[in-house]
Amino acid sequence: MAVSNPVGTYDLLPRQARVWERVKQLAFSTFGLYGYEPIETPLFEHTDLFVRGIGESTDVVSKEIFHVISSYNYRTLQEGGQVRSKDRFALRPEGTASVVRSVIQNDLVPQGAAPVKLMYAGPMYRAERPQQDRYREFRQIGVEFLGAAAPTADAELIIMLMRFYQAIGLPMGSVRVLINSLGDDRCRPAYREAVRAYIHEHSSEMCEDCNARADLNPLRAFDCKEEGCRKVMAQAPLITDALCDECKEHFAQVKALLDAAGVPYVEDPHLVRGLDYYTRTVFEVQVTDGMGAQNAIGGGGRYDKLVEQVGGRPTPGLGFALGFERMMHALEIGGAQVAGDAPAVCYVACADASVAAQAFDVMQALRDAGIACDGDHQGRSLKSQLKVAGRMEAPVCVVVGPDELAAGRVSVRDMRARTQETVALEHVAEAVSALLER
Ligand code: HAM
Repeated sequence: MAVSNPVGTYDLLPRQARVWERVKQLAFSTFGLYGYEPIETPLFEHTDLFVRGIGESTDVVSKEIFHVISSYNYRTLQEGGQVRSKDRFALRPEGTASVVRSVIQNDLVPQGAAPVKLMYAGPMYRAERPQQDRYREFRQIGVEFLGAAAPTADAELIIMLMRFYQAIGLPMGSVRVLINSLGDDRCRPAYREAVRAYIHEHSSEMCEDCNARADLNPLRAFDCKEEGCRKVMAQAPLITDALCDECKEHFAQVKALLDAAGVPYVEDPHLVRGLDYYTRTVFEVQVTDGMGAQNAIGGGGRYDKLVEQVGGRPTPGLGFALGFERMMHALEIGGAQVAGDAPAVCYVACADASVAAQAFDVMQALRDAGIACDGDHQGRSLKSQLKVAGRMEAPVCVVVGPDELAAGRVSVRDMRARTQETVALEHVAEAVSALLER
């Protein structure tokens, strides 16, 4: 059987793994300027957290969950038994529900305390139909800001995300920020009802999925890609006309702050997003050309009811996540690159087997001095060791030979300048780092 990775997943080979590290670093240092601190949550959680947090009728929960099961419970199921709900787990499809769970469990926003700002990066899992830019295991970098109700928080979040995209080299002309307000529990129920009634009126023109979702989650019909549904939904009632005064005012302030910061955006009253927890502001960053339907490189919004839904005290919240793979694709389209080059390594070669042990010691001494180095572990000839050093593009090579070693010295070669000098063993680290720094 050919060994291959599961469809919808991919390997981060060394260069890409370095790029991922670099992107995380850059994101965390940008978000750190805004007061965010890192958090890591488990890759799997109780399934119920996602059902309650993200919403049972969302595609993410109803179709795309990867269930995690112990072998004991797997056998129980095979034998027709039931698995207790506390033993039902799922791979995380996103980070928000997990972070909110942790905030509640660890009381990170005690009553009356200042808000908490958390950032994370890691793999997420959705059993979607794999295609270009749509994976089953993909990486997100996200932030969650718990305890802040003011519109300045929404604006700060969007500005920060755009600053990060700019810092990483994404051409700002190739992206647009869509924003909308989904209202709150005062104005949204009536709006939902209006959309539900509207879909029922047009049910014959709409697809099966939209009809099935009409009662459960009517706003999802705005996201349907079917031509008939798109036509109908283009004339559907707009949330903008249904917002209560408080939501209108909040949205107006967010937009005014973005205007003042010079961050352009497009108001899209059809932007609903695929997760149920949003209230008020939602936003999505899309690439305008070259990425087809999977052009959302990041998105987020406010979720003022989520903490309560998951079992905590009323606490407003908001956040976003950006997709690493899609952002890398957008960078490629924009002709930008993130450095993923290997750090310079010194190669330690030994002239023959009689000095292999000493070469081994030199390598360890260099590493102890903080110099990255590597050497032969296959008993190769000096000539082929030097070829390996060339392939590694090692800028410096130390050659350990029996004659020089007898005098307590080794050769240090500058591979770029093609020069060589002999150096006393106790000064090898100094000589190598001087050449590496050049
Ligand atoms: P989301 O829109 O579902 O939001 O995902 C955020 C980003 O993850 C998307 O814009 C996209 O770039 C990337 N993404 C999602 N699914 C896939 C996939 N199958 N393959 C590749 N990339 C993908 C969230 O996950 C929310 N938790 C964001 C948030 C945080 N809202 C508030 N706080």
